[in-house]
Amino acid sequence: MNAKAIPHDYAVPHSRLAQAAAMTLICVGASGCMVSDKPNWMFLPQLNAMLYSSAAESQLAAPGAATGHPVFANGKNLQLPPVGTVPRGFTPDHFAATPEGAKLAGETLTNAVPPTAENLRRGAERFAIFCSPCHGPKGYGDGEVAKKGIPGMPIGIPGVPAAQFPDGHVFHIITYGRNLMGSHASQIDAEDRWKIIHHLRVLQGKLPAPAAAGEGGAK
Ligand code: HEC
Repeated sequence: MNAKAIPHDYAVPHSRLAQAAAMTLICVGASGCMVSDKPNWMFLPQLNAMLYSSAAESQLAAPGAATGHPVFANGKNLQLPPVGTVPRGFTPDHFAATPEGAKLAGETLTNAVPPTAENLRRGAERFAIFCSPCHGPKGYGDGEVAKKGIPGMPIGIPGVPAAQFPDGHVFHIITYGRNLMGSHASQIDAEDRWKIIHHLRVLQGKLPAPAAAGEGGAK
């Protein structure tokens, strides 16, 4: 088609196009650079209380305390967990976070997760992520963190004290931590903790490795 066939009126001059493009760019750019601590557009203004809510300081008096009608009956922001609730990741038995609690857990908790090949592999994977940084990939106590000064604790060698701890005792250590080792309750769910313990038994030579365990898992 011949370009000259388009009547002159319909053709947009190139300079106009460039101007429009420049204006658009400036507007978009400027709106992106505006700094505001307010929401841009309020969908439901009656919900402003949610948009501008102020966090209650845990150690201060609860809102309304001065008027005698506090939000919480005891007038405080910081509340105890409701009776009967279990902190995330902890066992309902509430073993004390003490050596006695660990010993009791060792005497009363058993590993009910079957040591199938799949569970052992999961345990090995979780061990590599959560334990090896300190205890080393095979539990020799030679992890990267241990090399930086935290005393490495060998746990994956036959005959070390950890090999004598019953499963429930190790479960308690993973859940509550011990001295320099912190609690892993919020990072590792209970089932994975039991799988990690199975893997620990593999490292300690007490369970066959998953490849040798075959279909259905180690017995
Ligand atoms: C931040 C480093 C760190 C991480 C991560 C860590 N541990 Fe520990 N662990 C330690 C230290 C340090 C000790 C020794 C604590 C003490 O002095 O009582 C320890 C002790 C232990 C013990 C007791 C050993 C004994 O002989 O008394 C066990 C079992 C154990 N850890 C298992 C684990 C498992 C399983 C994981 C992963 C879920 C893990 N740890 C993750 C640092 C760590």
